[in-house]
Amino acid sequence: MNICCIGAGYVGGPTMAMIARKCPDITVKVVDINKERIDAWNSEALPVFEPGLLEVVKESRGRNLFFSTDVDGGIAWADLIFMCLPTPTKTYGEGAGSAADMTYIEISARRIAELATGDTIIVEKSTVPVRTAETIRRILESQKNGARFQVLSNPEFLAEGTAVADLENPDRVLIGGESATEEGRKALQTLVDVYARWVPRERIVTTNLWSSELSKLTANAFLAQRVSSINAMSALCEVTGADVDEVAAAIGRDKRIGPYFLHASVGFGGSCFQKDVLNLVYLCGAFNLPEVAEYWRQVVKMNDYQRHRFARKVLHALFSTVSGKKIAVLGFAFKRDTNDTRESSAISICRDLLEERAKLAIHDPKVERAQFFRDLGRKDPDPSIAICKDPFEAAEGADAILILTEWEQFRSKNLDYAKIFALMRKPAFLFDGRNLTDLAKMREIGFVAEGIGKGR
Ligand code: UDX
Ligand code: UDX
Repeated sequence: MNICCIGAGYVGGPTMAMIARKCPDITVKVVDINKERIDAWNSEALPVFEPGLLEVVKESRGRNLFFSTDVDGGIAWADLIFMCLPTPTKTYGEGAGSAADMTYIEISARRIAELATGDTIIVEKSTVPVRTAETIRRILESQKNGARFQVLSNPEFLAEGTAVADLENPDRVLIGGESATEEGRKALQTLVDVYARWVPRERIVTTNLWSSELSKLTANAFLAQRVSSINAMSALCEVTGADVDEVAAAIGRDKRIGPYFLHASVGFGGSCFQKDVLNLVYLCGAFNLPEVAEYWRQVVKMNDYQRHRFARKVLHALFSTVSGKKIAVLGFAFKRDTNDTRESSAISICRDLLEERAKLAIHDPKVERAQFFRDLGRKDPDPSIAICKDPFEAAEGADAILILTEWEQFRSKNLDYAKIFALMRKPAFLFDGRNLTDLAKMREIGFVAEGIGKGR
């Protein structure tokens, strides 16, 4: 079997590398219009930082895993085509700010319609609005060149930073398809058989197309809602003297609630949560369900509130002005173990502080220099932004230190906070946006220290 994947991003690259590893008899080509990305996939410096990924890629690369910019060639050659293309939030026209931009999906569907031959299975992996498979099918069927298509939905649930482990040992694999027809059942079975090489059969769930598409949006909406719910409680904890981590631990003992995804923070980031919740909101609106739309919209509103609230807390603590003050920022990626900064809460918080004319000294273990400036909408060099090689350089002469990403190296046991304190101007403030540090110890060192949801 020949598998082609269009889109060599965070989803396409790792997923295809895992398929190639587990199915040495299947040839997998990952194609992308971005030459720089493809070159990186063919090098030692992969474009995506994921623990363990380089080993997985190197095992199959050149054997049955190939990365190429020949999108058309890949399409014409494949029996099974994964679409791992971006579906960002629309920035223009109808639905701007909430609907998903389907441009890339449509362009690729049209290329497939033109180039594919024989029987081809199209798998949507991108998170898409419900009923996208219908759109893809109509585009495919508009070409009359004898080729026959089946469309499947196979949403990806991997989380960044743990992609390899998630792909190796998924909680479930979801495949949506058309089981009413013989061809549809055959297509479903073909994809089930690929995953069944390494995923226990009972974890492979098959549903109809629309359930599968909607399940992805629902899963991300529920996860985002959990973070917003605990973040909402964090604000209440701060004014009542409760401790949000104690509350989370207490409620997490209830099996019906469960202990995961209850870390209060500066807000969720990443390419998926906000985009997918907004997409869900738009869908509900489009299907004339305004109350349902409004319910989910609150999840994103709460996240925005949490970000701005954090920036305001810094401002007010620093005697209501940060103008000209140096503020050290530890962590810029949207979560630990990734170089990805998409929708990172750090961006929003840094922008708020720049607006107040602060001077930022930012350190992140993985994010590259150019990315900080792109995200903050500034040109390098900028007198208000310094990118630092380590936390100590960032802390030198700073009034405050902000922890914005949950990198292990920022935990109190892994970083010399006494040394950091000594380097800073006094009073020295610490705002721990991820509750990584022991605040009592930080106060002992001399910091004016605040966490998230830690009432006093
Ligand atoms: C994925 C999914 O595809 C998206 O729908 C999901 O909701 C989030 O995760 P991701 O892999 O993270 O996206 O996106 P990205 O890293 O941006 O990769 C997409 C790739 O597609 C890029 O490398 C881009 O160059 C490529 N692309 C885009 C094409 O090859 N052709 C196009 O027409 C557009
Ligand atoms: C998410 C989903 O988990 C994954 O299934 C889907 O395929 C893509 O979207 P990802 O965006 O990689 O994955 O990261 P995730 O681990 O879910 O974290 C998202 C954001 O929420 C991060 O900014 C993280 O720091 C934040 N978060 C997570 C919290 O603030 N508190 C928590 O308890 C958990």
